[in-house]
Amino acid sequence: MPKWSMESWLVHGGRPPVEPGQPINQPIEPASTYYAGAEPEYARDGTHGMQALEEAMGPLEGGEAVAFASGMAAAGAIIDLLPMGAVVVAARFTYTGVSVRLRELNDIGRIALRLVDIADTEAVIAAAAGADAIWVESPTNPMLEIADIPAIRAGASGLLVVDSTFATPLGQRPLEMGADVVLHSATKSIGGHSDGLMGIAVTADADRAAALRFRRTILGGAPGALECYLILRGLRTLSVRYDRSQASALVLAERLGEHAAVERVRYPGLKDDPGYERMRRLMSGPGTMLSIEVAGGAEGAERVARSTDLWVHATSLGGVESLIERRRRWPLESAEVPENLLRLSVGIESVEDLWQDLAAALANV
Ligand SMILES: Cc1ncc(COP(=O)(O)O)c(C=O)c1O
Repeated sequence: MPKWSMESWLVHGGRPPVEPGQPINQPIEPASTYYAGAEPEYARDGTHGMQALEEAMGPLEGGEAVAFASGMAAAGAIIDLLPMGAVVVAARFTYTGVSVRLRELNDIGRIALRLVDIADTEAVIAAAAGADAIWVESPTNPMLEIADIPAIRAGASGLLVVDSTFATPLGQRPLEMGADVVLHSATKSIGGHSDGLMGIAVTADADRAAALRFRRTILGGAPGALECYLILRGLRTLSVRYDRSQASALVLAERLGEHAAVERVRYPGLKDDPGYERMRRLMSGPGTMLSIEVAGGAEGAERVARSTDLWVHATSLGGVESLIERRRRWPLESAEVPENLLRLSVGIESVEDLWQDLAAALANV
C-alpha cells in the first residue's frame, strides 16, 4: 500500500503519469490491436484501461489484480487453475452462478465438490482434508453468513479463494487473513452505478497472477474499454458510497427487526446475528447488504418487492440505487434459501425515504 490511506488511494490510484499534458483520467481506448513492437499488442492480453484498473485495485487488497469481463469470468478463470479431478470445498450458499458452475463441473467429473456450512469452521476444516481448494464467500449471498477466514486458513491447506464481493476491499482484507486469491464482482459496489460488468481477482503470488492473466487471454474473458473506464470511475467514490450505504443498512436492519411483518433480519451488524462477533473481529463494518424474511411466504415477499416506489425491484447489488428482490424467484437459486427471503442492497438515497418506502410496502403483507 502506498503511503496514503485506502480512501485516498481509491481516488488517486491507477491514473496516467503526472506529466504536463497528460489527461488526469485513463482515457477510453477503443482498440482491439496495437502497433507491433511494444506491450500491449492485443486487447485480450491486456489494455491500458485494464492496467489502470488493476493498478488501482491491487494495493487495495495487497496483491496483484487481474481484471475480467465479469465476476463469473474471473471465477471461471480461478477454477480453471485447478487440476483435473480437484477436490473443492465450497459454501452451500455460494452465489448462485458460481454454485451452478461448481455443480456442473462436479457432474462431469472435472472437480469433486464438497458442500459445507461455511459458518461452521470445524466442518469446513474437516471437509478440507486433502482438498485442492476451498471456495469461501463471506458474507454469503444472500444469507449473510460470515466465514472465519483466518481459522479456516489455519486449519486447512489448499488454494483458499475468498469471494469478497459483499465486503469490498474496505470491508475486509482476505489476503491479510491468509487467502490465496480474492475475487470481486466489480459489477457491484466497486463499480457502484449498475452500468457495467467487471470481475477482479487479486493474488499476492506473481506466478498465480500470471497464470490468471493467461487464463484471461486463453478463455477470452477480457473486459471492454468502456467498462474499464466506468468501473475505475466508480471506484473513485467507493468509500463515500460504502460508508453511507452501510450506515443506512444498519438503521434499516434495526427498524426491520422491530417490524411486525418481518420474521427475520439477516445482517451481521445486529448484535443478535450469528455473524456479529466475527464481523467485529474480521471486518471493518457489517456492509451494505441485508436480507429479510417477511410474513405471507413467497407471495407476501413478491408483493413487497413489487410495491415499492423508491427501492428498485431488480436483481444485482452494490449500486447507488437501492435494490430489492426475492431471491427464490430464480429457479437456480438454492432451495435452502427461504421462499420469503428478500435481499436488500442499500444505496445512497435518504435513509428516511428508504424506510418510509419499505414500511409502506411491508404494510401490504
Ligand atoms: C458474491 C458474488 N460473486 C460473484 C458474482 C458474479 O458476478 P458477475 O455478475 O459480475 O459475473 C455475483 C453476482 O451477483 C455475486 O453476487
